Amino acid sequence: MAEIKTLAVVGSGQMGSGIAQLGAMYGLDVWLVDTDSDALLRATNSISSSIQRFVSKSHLSQAAGSDALRRLKCTSNLEDLHSADVIIEAIVESENVKKKLFSELDKIAKASAILASNTSSISITRLASATSRPRQVILGIDILAPFLFLAVFAREDSENQKLVAVLKKDSLQIDHQKLIAVLGFDVGCVIGMHFMNPPPIMKLVEIVRGADTSDETFSVTKALAERFGKIVICSQDYSGFIVNRILMPMINEAFFTLYTGVATKEDIDTGMKLGTNHPMGPLELADFIGLDVCLSIMGVLHVGLGDNKYAPCPLLVQYVDAGRLGRKRGIGVYDYR
Ligand code: CAA
Repeated sequence: MAEIKTLAVVGSGQMGSGIAQLGAMYGLDVWLVDTDSDALLRATNSISSSIQRFVSKSHLSQAAGSDALRRLKCTSNLEDLHSADVIIEAIVESENVKKKLFSELDKIAKASAILASNTSSISITRLASATSRPRQVILGIDILAPFLFLAVFAREDSENQKLVAVLKKDSLQIDHQKLIAVLGFDVGCVIGMHFMNPPPIMKLVEIVRGADTSDETFSVTKALAERFGKIVICSQDYSGFIVNRILMPMINEAFFTLYTGVATKEDIDTGMKLGTNHPMGPLELADFIGLDVCLSIMGVLHVGLGDNKYAPCPLLVQYVDAGRLGRKRGIGVYDYR
């Protein structure tokens, strides 16, 4: 696979802007995409103040910080992503909204592009199913197209005719499994690339392989995370993957501990901070992540793993219903106003 030069990140919230910042700081040209121009403005402000923090701590030179900001471009037009080598989706945690985006990206992105999701719990296999890429490669205007076209037609067996499934517009669609059989490589290029919050600081990236993710896509994604200075862990595609399967039930249990009157929020957090050396207590961390995100991940675990032990705490549900979503709203378990 060609060298990664251009990264696109769709969604300019905390996670998307942090991932875009990493790309720009590590020498990539970066597109940051959001339909909301105010969100893009907030994202560029937060990226430049985060870069300034690295500069002020001498983790980055002033020149490198300025170069990173120059490499970052914002857009509201998905079509601008046609030349991106890797596209990372970091939008709202809703399977339907993500699937719609993946289906659009599939049409816009070049054939060799990797489509990654920063989802914290949603099935990569199901997101990939919204694209033609788990099973097909679309050969449009791409450097590989003439080569693949010739390679397919150089074969003289009767499978040739079956290989070419559809010829439409300027794109030639070929059955993915048969393409692997003929050409000997895999093109399943949808993958999970789950960063931790805040992405510029946290050391981990959890890579999630969908049912059809190719080895090559995995290797390129892993190398990209390592280029960003991250340690990679690899998860199979089951609800919550590794980190949130363990973290979210702990946060949910902290809500139950508060809900059932076992202790105050401060004592629950202090207990876990000092008792187990966590940098933040579970309730403080829930506010940091967003209570709506925590609730949605608990929902995915509950449905996906089919066990009542993952049922969200009624207090967590009530806070979300009340719009107490955590730091981003100024109020969650704690009041930040
Ligand atoms: N940009 C640049 N630098 C930053 C920064 C940012 N956005 N945020 C923090 N920093 C730097 C600070 O400048 C500081 O640098 P030095 O050590 O060189 O002084 C350092 O990071 C520590 O920051 P602070 O002193 O401001 O605050 P802190 O010590 O409390 O650390 C924290 C903040 C890193 C967020 C820490 O509290 C922490 O690790 N919390 C836990 C975070 C966590 O668990 N994240 C995972 C959530 S789960 C998830 O993301 C998965 C999911 O799907 C939900």
